[in-house]
Amino acid sequence: MSETTYVRAAALSELEEDTPKRVELDGTPVALVKTEGEVFAVNDICSHANVSLSEGEVEDCAIECWLHGSRFDLRTGKPSGLPATRPVPVYPVKIEGDDVLVSVTQES
Ligand code: FES
Repeated sequence: MSETTYVRAAALSELEEDTPKRVELDGTPVALVKTEGEVFAVNDICSHANVSLSEGEVEDCAIECWLHGSRFDLRTGKPSGLPATRPVPVYPVKIEGDDVLVSVTQES
């Protein structure tokens, strides 16, 4: 059984509502998004092309790729529309005090 290891990704207080923040965790680019009272972590690279999702807009618990407009659900990573057809990985998030902890060793 693989163990879930959490690493500190950011301070909760530095995340702005609906403004994605790109961080790199163990070499994995991750977009952190605080929205609707929760923090989500998804892989920062669009599944359609090599584009940073954290430069896109957040709405209705989804992040939109700025290049071609596919929207990925922050809970599941699934795209809701073309051209992307594959989900992006999503990662478990834990909040401890002001620390946002993310596990990139396990996709959820
Ligand atoms: S690069 Fe993201 S939808 Fe095309």
